[in-house]
Order: sequence, then structure tokens, then C-alpha cells
Amino acid sequence: MKNVAGANPVQITRIRPEDWQLFWDLRVEFVESSPDAISLANPAFMRSRPKILWMNFADELATQTDSAAFIAWKAAEAVGFVEVNLLRHVDQGRIANIWVRSSSRRQGIGENLLKEAFAFFEASGVAKASLLATTTNQEAIRFYERRGFSSTGEVLCLRGGLGPTIAEYIRTL
Ligand SMILES: CC(C)(COP(=O)(O)OP(=O)(O)OC[C@H]1O[C@@H](n2cnc3c(N)ncnc32)[C@H](O)[C@@H]1OP(=O)(O)O)[C@@H](O)C(=O)NCCC(=O)NCCS
Repeated sequence: MKNVAGANPVQITRIRPEDWQLFWDLRVEFVESSPDAISLANPAFMRSRPKILWMNFADELATQTDSAAFIAWKAAEAVGFVEVNLLRHVDQGRIANIWVRSSSRRQGIGENLLKEAFAFFEASGVAKASLLATTTNQEAIRFYERRGFSSTGEVLCLRGGLGPTIAEYIRTL
């Protein structure tokens, strides 16, 4: 468990299998509150998925070596998470999702979640961190660019160009 100093100390822990319900709730809140951040998920669909899938997902993120999720806590309140996986064929760790509840933003929690992801990648031996961001999500893109990420030039236009545009960002660890 990492303790991040400050007036309201935040702790960051790797998800445990028993956190599956909490993680499900956080993921749904993320998708509902940040429509710009994630283009392919639908809150109603996420809510309707069988709980065994969320149990298995949390178990994998808690125990496997090629993926993980870390949760940020303010006392007993979970206020954010980062979800990561390894893309070993391209020597990268991927930030799959990162989110902080809006009431807890601009306190350094996102940065500390990012650092936790980098520590996981470094311990796994990959050289770079990468992510995908919707091009309209300017706040997040600025957050990443200020932390060393730059665009790879790879751009994906969803739904034949009618949907959102997603860009890839990368940095060396
Ligand atoms: C992107 C996101 C995770 C950042 O989380 P966060 O906890 O606000 O991140 P931080 O507090 O570490 O940093 C955010 C800004 O607050 C500033 N900040 C940090 N501590 C601060 C403080 N005590 N007082 C004032 N500002 C502060 C940081 O410098 C940073 O600004 P910068 O990016 O211009 O450098 C959050 O905005 C979010 O959840 N967005 C919605 C989901 C999303 O878009 N995810 C990304 C998908 S690609």
C-alpha cells in the first residue's frame, strides 16, 4: 500500500478479488461521468453484465502478471483507479483506463495513479508506456502531455469516421 502525503492522504492499493463490486461501481461511474474519455462502453450494458464476469475480471487484475488495477482511497472512499496491461510484443505497458472522481481532481491523485502504473510497467520489464485518448478529451491529453506523453501519429476513426477519433500516445519510462 502506498501512502501519498498531503492534507487528505490518499492510499493506492492493487485491487483485491473481493473489490469486484466496488470496481464494477467505479467503472460504471467512470463511463457515466466521462463520456469523452471512453468511446465504446455503455453504462447500461456495463451494469447489465453478469456479476461472475466482474468477479473474474477483478480476480485477474488482482493476481495476474500481465494486467492490474490500482485503486486510490481517501480513508474508506475509493476515489479513482487505473487499469493497466502489458503489450509485450511492442515492449509497452498500456494505460487502459484512468479516472478520478471529479470532486477529488486536481489534488495529484491522477499523477500518483500514473506513477503506480509506471512502477508496474518497470517491474514487468517493458520500456514504454502508451495509451489511447479520444481527441476531444483535451483535459486528459494535456494531463498526459505534461507528463511526457506524445502522439505516435496513430489515429483511429470509429464507426467509419462518424464516431469519435482516438489517438495513441506514448512515452519512455
Ligand atoms: C485525467 C484525470 C485522471 C486526472 O486526474 P487528477 O487527479 O485531476 O490529476 P492530477 O491532480 O494529478 O493532475 C491534474 C492537474 O491538477 C494539477 N494539480 C495537482 N495537484 C494540485 C493542487 N493541489 N492544486 C491545484 N492543482 C493541482 C496538476 O498539476 C495537473 O495539472 P496539469 O495537467 O496542467 O499539470 C482526471 O481528470 C479524470 O479522471 N478525467 C476523466 C476521465 C478521463 O478522461 N480519463 C482519461 C481517459 S484517456
